Amino acid sequence: MPKDSKLNLTHRPRRLRRQSSRRILVEETVLRAADLIAPLFVVEGEGAPEPIASMPGVSRFNVADLVRECRELYDLGVPAVALFPKLDAKLKNPEGTEALNKATLVLRAVRAVKAAVPELTVITDVALDPYTSHGHDGVLTAAGDDVDNDLTVGILCEMAVLQAEAGVDFVAPSDMMDGRVGAIRKALDAAGYTGTGILAYSAKFNSAFYGPFRDAVGSATAAGTRLLSKATYQMNPANRREAIREVQLDVAEGADIVMVKPAGLYLDIIREVRNSTRTPVAAYQISGEYSQIQAAAQLGWLDLVRCRDESLLAIKRAGADMILTYFAKEVAKALAKK
Ligand code: PBG
Repeated sequence: MPKDSKLNLTHRPRRLRRQSSRRILVEETVLRAADLIAPLFVVEGEGAPEPIASMPGVSRFNVADLVRECRELYDLGVPAVALFPKLDAKLKNPEGTEALNKATLVLRAVRAVKAAVPELTVITDVALDPYTSHGHDGVLTAAGDDVDNDLTVGILCEMAVLQAEAGVDFVAPSDMMDGRVGAIRKALDAAGYTGTGILAYSAKFNSAFYGPFRDAVGSATAAGTRLLSKATYQMNPANRREAIREVQLDVAEGADIVMVKPAGLYLDIIREVRNSTRTPVAAYQISGEYSQIQAAAQLGWLDLVRCRDESLLAIKRAGADMILTYFAKEVAKALAKK
């Protein structure tokens, strides 16, 4: 084509991209600190924060430091935190009985955080994996070859009531047992906690990317194995229709918010869930998603800040109303400077 040739084009989408002030006018998705939920790990004692090797930049906090972290997050505009306890191995047993101890670590943490930062929304996981010696989310069948659904649901209901009593705003069943959302709703209401919400891990997939989280809460090595399969309760990553079915069941059972997890590899699921329900949708950018970006950045292969921001923008664009992410604080800080 000659050098001076001009195409006779009516449509030149590039007109909208000429300078940043034009680009911003037509920007469709904006990430806010208010979209973020910070997952935080808590440990017993008064020690210094314990860095988690497989999650650079993430540490486990003692209760006092956790409270400080929560206040900082709230002041940065992050409206919610999700708390995960890491228990001493000697408190774990096959039944996960420590989960029903009224003075267990996470309940003390909730009380401390709610007392110090009452406006912050506090979420706690309802699942037995931090408490069981085998690291599964529930108790095992008599034969020991599977997680017993109905027995587990009963325990989860008690756990949810204890969390509500401690003052959480949302309980978040992350266990994937059948019927747990409805049972937990009934148990909360019967105990008088009609205002405590349920953020349901509705479409939670059996992902290999949970690895670093299992290091963080010590559930990977609980049974001396990293080959812990949760395939009989977490969803097959191959399934899309089934995700919608799980969401519909949880909404029917009374979920206030439904969640898709992981997020970045499951953007199609987030979009389909978004289109299939009027219930708010959360997405969890899980530990492995976070650590991949951190690792590549450490190697100098990817730009940490730009990849972080793009990964979260994509999750929001897919349809998530809120995102659990280990990047919450750094992103909120960056947004506060803008
Ligand atoms: C377990 C639970 C998991 C996560 C949150 N709650 C992992 C699992 O199912 O083993 C994963 C979060 C992450 O990877 O960041 N109830």
